[in-house]
Amino acid sequence: MNNTENRLSHSPREKFSGKLGYLMATAGSAVGLGNIWRFPYLVAKYGGGIFILVYFLLIVVFGYALVVTETALGRSTGKSPIGAFGTHSNKRWTKAGAWINAIVPAIIVPYYCAIGGWVVKYLIEYLKGNASLLATDAYFGSFISNALTSELCFFVFALATFLVVIFGVKKGIESGSKIMMPLLILLAVIIAIYSVTRPGAIEGVKYMFIPNFKNFSTMTLVAALGQMFYSMSLAMGILITYGSYLDKDVDIEKSSIQLGAFDTGIALLAGLMIIPAVFAFSGGSAEALNSGPSLMFITIPKVFESMGFANIIGAVFFIMVLFAALTSSISLMETCVATLADQFKWSRIKCCIMVFVFILVVGSASVLGYGPWEFVTIFGMQVLDFFDFLSNSLLMPIAALFTCLFITRIVGLDKIENEVCLSSQFRLKKLYRISIKYIAPVFLAIILISSIASVLGIISM
Ligand code: PHE
Repeated sequence: MNNTENRLSHSPREKFSGKLGYLMATAGSAVGLGNIWRFPYLVAKYGGGIFILVYFLLIVVFGYALVVTETALGRSTGKSPIGAFGTHSNKRWTKAGAWINAIVPAIIVPYYCAIGGWVVKYLIEYLKGNASLLATDAYFGSFISNALTSELCFFVFALATFLVVIFGVKKGIESGSKIMMPLLILLAVIIAIYSVTRPGAIEGVKYMFIPNFKNFSTMTLVAALGQMFYSMSLAMGILITYGSYLDKDVDIEKSSIQLGAFDTGIALLAGLMIIPAVFAFSGGSAEALNSGPSLMFITIPKVFESMGFANIIGAVFFIMVLFAALTSSISLMETCVATLADQFKWSRIKCCIMVFVFILVVGSASVLGYGPWEFVTIFGMQVLDFFDFLSNSLLMPIAALFTCLFITRIVGLDKIENEVCLSSQFRLKKLYRISIKYIAPVFLAIILISSIASVLGIISM
């Protein structure tokens, strides 16, 4: 797993150092802000227990099948997305589909860096000893409306990602995150136990785990699907690329299940840190539950403040979150760089600089859109929310739908199955077949239509 540069420039194609290397690399990409920041606010906003139930069902029915498909496609062709699809077909619709897979990370990475900037800011403030200030309700709003500070923090995070990708010092970050990830889990468990045992918090636990069908809306489904793609780094060719570095003797079925379980476990843990606290500290009001992307940044400081030693806990927590976010943003940026380098045969440095400039321009708009440019809306959404919606609720379902059709129509399910069976008993083969052939395409189509309808205001979000 430590041969990132080679891995992404494709020559020579090196393999992961066995199963653990593959799992660490995919987990590093999968576990990030999606689990810690995004999952809890979606659970809060889109119905609590019912959202989690839908999310689980989606993982079992599609998520698993898509992880297996992308990994097997990558391993059988030995190429990254555009090349992998191109190996099997040169038709126009397949080219377009491959490009959609490749474009998704480019839409995500700018606003991912914007959120990464928020993490940087909170870390700095905890290091400065400002825990009580961070725990006040107005803090997040005043930080984000200050264009200079928020842009600066965004720049620091984007620059860190850029430097790691361009100098290929990913090794250091990865070995760092080998220590950080287990520590983050340990700390998250402690914080979650603390949160859950606060007076009033049990209402939050109930909200999270008891599905209330009254809370179900189309957006529950749309948001849960988008989150599944996002959190497991699906529908954007990342797992195809990682699969292409995988040895033939690694059990794809087992490692896919492990990836899903690990990723979901961390998301649930983050949910348990945050949602019960929303009930304990803000009474679980609709306004608090609906706070969206700012939820973690408003709630977590209150938990720390009440725990004591807030500055130390806060600093440690945000350092770990920073590592988790960096391993993900690096994998996003690298995918963009690899696609450009592969397709246009430009030098790696040129591609890195182009992607970095792109991140700065588009990411800045997301940062400002949460502050001074609050009045700018696209289809009623703030800039950051718009990019998030565009990637997760529109392009990823299209990319996933394309992958399903591509596998059944062009590659043939047998080929993928044979690839998986090289090293796995493939016990869930039947479920896999039904999912890719029928369930996934039908559901994806329904979800796509609903999200387009909701943007156009035909159904309510
Ligand atoms: N899965 C990452 C997260 O949960 C985000 C990500 C998406 C990373 C796509 C890489 C690619 O934060």
